[in-house]
Amino acid sequence: MDYLPIFLEVAGKRVVVDGGTTVAARRVERALNAGALVDLFDPEPAEEVRRFIGHERLNHHARVPVEADFEGCLVAYGASEEPDRDRLLHRAAKAAGALVNVADEKAYCDFITPSVVEREPITIAISTGGAAPVIARILRARMEAMLPAAYGRLALFLANFRGRIYEAVPNGRNRRRFWENLIEGPVGDAFLAGEEGLAEARLKEDLSRGSADLKHGEVWLVGAGPGDPDLLTFKALRMMQHADVVLYDRLVGDGIVELVRRDAERIYVGKKANEHTLTQREITDLMIERAQRGERVLRLKGGDPFIFGRGGEELEDVAAHGIPVEVVPGITAAAGCGAAAGIPLTHRDHAQSCVFITAHGAGGVLDHDWTRYARKGQTVVVYMGLNALGELAKRALEQGVEADMPVAVIDNGTRLEQRVIIARLDEIEGQVAKADLPGPALIVMGHVVTLYGSLGVKGSQSEGYAMELRAGATL
Ligand SMILES: C[S@@+](CC[C@H](N)C(=O)[O-])C[C@H]1O[C@@H](n2cnc3c(N)ncnc32)[C@H](O)[C@@H]1O
Repeated sequence: MDYLPIFLEVAGKRVVVDGGTTVAARRVERALNAGALVDLFDPEPAEEVRRFIGHERLNHHARVPVEADFEGCLVAYGASEEPDRDRLLHRAAKAAGALVNVADEKAYCDFITPSVVEREPITIAISTGGAAPVIARILRARMEAMLPAAYGRLALFLANFRGRIYEAVPNGRNRRRFWENLIEGPVGDAFLAGEEGLAEARLKEDLSRGSADLKHGEVWLVGAGPGDPDLLTFKALRMMQHADVVLYDRLVGDGIVELVRRDAERIYVGKKANEHTLTQREITDLMIERAQRGERVLRLKGGDPFIFGRGGEELEDVAAHGIPVEVVPGITAAAGCGAAAGIPLTHRDHAQSCVFITAHGAGGVLDHDWTRYARKGQTVVVYMGLNALGELAKRALEQGVEADMPVAVIDNGTRLEQRVIIARLDEIEGQVAKADLPGPALIVMGHVVTLYGSLGVKGSQSEGYAMELRAGATL
């Protein structure tokens, strides 16, 4: 981040705007809305600037500014689009100790002006650090569409109860939770639905209970999907914004961890070579201990927590301690990787069933009955199989699975660095070894793999090898 995001109090302070352009009009409007005393300089301002003349806190000077005009000003905006005026403004305003912003002149800017979404008294400011202001404008438009207009009124309504809430729930953490429950629970729902009276009655009921409902901790087991942050569910995101502590795995991408509430504690519990991590027992104990302290503990897992995620094992212990639990599903790697690579896991012409298996059990590589899995009309998805690929292929071939069975290995599926290797069963190990994949990787076996590259899915190239398989596949 190249800029410090702050909201500056300018009420009753002097702000100078130099120029009569559209940009000047925007600057004048913002400054007046924030309560500033505005000195506007321009001999002939455009119509959209002139409409502010006559405002009780605006002084129009029908000339260009001189050095003395900047004394005592807090902020100076250059919006004349005249280089000589910009230069003078910058020099004089800096000498007067003001913060300076000259439109489209980065060298003359102490700060940048963000795109703003307003729901009085809520203000959302968006900046791309000057890199791509159009993105900020697009985001602004999306937020405008997303945020109910009544949100601002809800903030004003709740502000009336601030003091009483403070008294009813003195503990800071409980108070934050109380506020969240108000805004996202029945009180907020009633208010946004236009039922202000009902919202007030419910709020008063909540106030009479104080923090009685807030003392108990909870455990939330949440799936983070296969890596692309856009594949998180709304519910997962909401819970990530409300948790007190988040325990996350190696498979949860950085882009996702970034979305956790800023002041929530984040504890990495993933397993990686040469890195100290907690054992499964220690992870579960930590969750229990934190929940017993009254915290909302979010256990964030890659993919779906109940698919090869050991979520069930962790919850058995938590539940035995009487701690309330909630589970939020995530997109499992099979679904994410299939979609991102353009390989449907079922297809009426190719596969009428699909099985998910893991290559590893508690005691090492599992001795699967491959004839049961790798058979006509069925897709097999193998989790945790990258390092055992050679052994898996060997055992399958020994058990009579066709050597030309199409196989895809999808590495880092759904992420920017996704790679897909396609080969026959008897050649897949060699192809994958050449590619030197870092993992995590998923193995997909079956006739659906021949569809790779044929469905127009971005990132799924119609490679020679896939075409050859498509032509020659026997399954
Ligand atoms: C411990 S399992 C966790 C599975 C997870 N609970 C799920 O539902 O996807 C880890 C395995 O999932 C697969 N996996 C997870 N994320 C993946 C990704 N982005 N690309 C490819 N495979 C992935 C790999 O096979 C990896 O070894």
